[in-house]
Amino acid sequence: MPIRIATPADGPRLAAIYRPAVVSLATSFELAPPNGSEMARRVTRITARTPWLVEEETGEVLGYAYASAHRDRPAYAWSVEVSAYVDAAAQRHGLGRALYTSLLAILTLQGFQNAYAGITLPNPASIAFHESLGFTPVGTYRLVGYKHGRWHDVQWYERSLGAHPADPPPPRPLPEVMQVAGFAGALAMGDKTPERESGRARTRKLPRPRP
Ligand SMILES: CC(C)(COP(=O)(O)OP(=O)(O)OC[C@H]1O[C@@H](n2cnc3c(N)ncnc32)[C@H](O)[C@@H]1OP(=O)(O)O)[C@@H](O)C(=O)NCCC(=O)NCCS
Repeated sequence: MPIRIATPADGPRLAAIYRPAVVSLATSFELAPPNGSEMARRVTRITARTPWLVEEETGEVLGYAYASAHRDRPAYAWSVEVSAYVDAAAQRHGLGRALYTSLLAILTLQGFQNAYAGITLPNPASIAFHESLGFTPVGTYRLVGYKHGRWHDVQWYERSLGAHPADPPPPRPLPEVMQVAGFAGALAMGDKTPERESGRARTRKLPRPRP
């Protein structure tokens, strides 16, 4: 199944994939894992403006990536924060790259100009992942979050999405850009990465993800 836009029905699987980043690690600064209903609500809220993508293998969602507003003040309207979560059993099979490739292509089509990612340190996989997708370091917020009994640094990464034109039009909301001719191509772009086209992800034996 190709990459597609998440729906509220994906909520329980999204919650299961996200859970370790909340419960066991400081990857996310949330303290309590959201359940499926809460993830469904988030999907509805986010996709009113920006993409939330999922990747399925044999009918099961194995990973997701989404973009949300960077900050609320109007001058930040062209900037988003992005994040990806791939089921532990399916990592390093090109799913994250596929998801981000489609995500960044859709964001560009919408007219966003900058994508940012905040990575709680240490997270060498996420740092290597973002750098391989063209993100460059901005700087580190030292000891910015307290979770699981200690303080954590967050390193920020940036990736330019556009040419930063003079007088830019406001980014088009996701439902509007889903109607334009280039949308299907942007969504499918992740399935055209070398790993995906060579079938690397599909031919490697993926351990069965946790229910
Ligand atoms: C970060 C994450 C989304 C990457 O997804 P993934 O599907 O495993 O990554 P991919 O297989 O698409 O890897 C793409 C590239 O990223 C880099 N990369 C990914 N994981 C890596 C790892 N563990 N070590 C080193 N490099 C890594 C590599 O350059 C890789 O290309 P290659 O396999 O051809 O060398 C995944 O590790 C994950 O979900 N981690 C837990 C949650 C998390 O930390 N999310 C990020 C929040 S900021």
